[in-house]
Amino acid sequence: MSEEQPVNKNEVEKKNSETYAKRQAYREKQENVRKTLKHVRIDEDTIKDTETAVELPRKRFYRQRAHSNPFSDHQLEYPGSPDEMDWSKLYPHYYDETTGKMTKEVKIADIGCGFGGLLIDLSPEFKDTLILGMEIRVQVTHYVEDRIIALRQQHAAEHGYQNINVLRGNAMKFLPNFFKQSQLDKMFFCFPDPHFKQRKHKARIITNTLLSEYAFVLREGGIIYTITDVLDLHNWMVKHLDEHPLFERCGEEWEEQDVCVKIMRESTEEGKKVARNQGSKYVKCYRRLPNP
Ligand SMILES: C[S@@+](CC[C@H](N)C(=O)[O-])C[C@H]1O[C@@H](n2cnc3c(N)ncnc32)[C@H](O)[C@@H]1O
Repeated sequence: MSEEQPVNKNEVEKKNSETYAKRQAYREKQENVRKTLKHVRIDEDTIKDTETAVELPRKRFYRQRAHSNPFSDHQLEYPGSPDEMDWSKLYPHYYDETTGKMTKEVKIADIGCGFGGLLIDLSPEFKDTLILGMEIRVQVTHYVEDRIIALRQQHAAEHGYQNINVLRGNAMKFLPNFFKQSQLDKMFFCFPDPHFKQRKHKARIITNTLLSEYAFVLREGGIIYTITDVLDLHNWMVKHLDEHPLFERCGEEWEEQDVCVKIMRESTEEGKKVARNQGSKYVKCYRRLPNP
């Protein structure tokens, strides 16, 4: 037994380094495609010029630690103010070359969008609305970017998936740098990191201070959507939203008939995992009230 250990260890090391090399090669290849296609207007003409069809990305090559510290600096890029943001790079289809302006602005934000399932299912439902996912983890963001590039290519004839994109960013720090006052119609918080330990609660994505920022970027009547499988986090979100003077509950009847609630229950990767494990999903939606 003990004699076999070094052999096994070598084999494990060899396998690990092979896996690592394979993952690096895949990531490099994807990065090249991403560099070329990330900001270009993908339509049938672009496809003719592209040598090979872009495949949907393989998730296993984008794995990353589950948690990222929302208080660290991450060397993130962000605009000084919303006016400095160049949205044409994310939604080239909605850029009018004659006026040099965007024809639409982002109205829906998916905060901590993870692998992008919600964005993809919301896209055809809100065909002419710009939807943005914000995600702090770099590899996860790359996965969503690559997924959107591939989908735009596969659906070029009907201009599919031109209205969604993802941005690497820390929603706890820089939201007002990206969005103007009252810009957003809807904000989604789907299966946010639970930060179970009490001393970590301050890292939760819903707090009094952050809710005031969300109220700033949401228009009157705009909706905050929350869903989680962690009862303690659900109670935390409900408590903070109930206590905030600028939000009111939408109520279960409203939630039952809302198409976005239906989509968010089914479409995110975390939501699918919870369903596979037959876990519970707790939903609550809140409406942005007028300023007093
Ligand atoms: C548990 S996952 C849920 C992902 C997705 N919403 C879903 O339902 O499948 C939480 C995600 O939020 C991201 N995240 C956590 N804090 C964030 C922050 N401050 N800004 C942006 N994204 C954040 C994490 O990297 C992670 O991908």
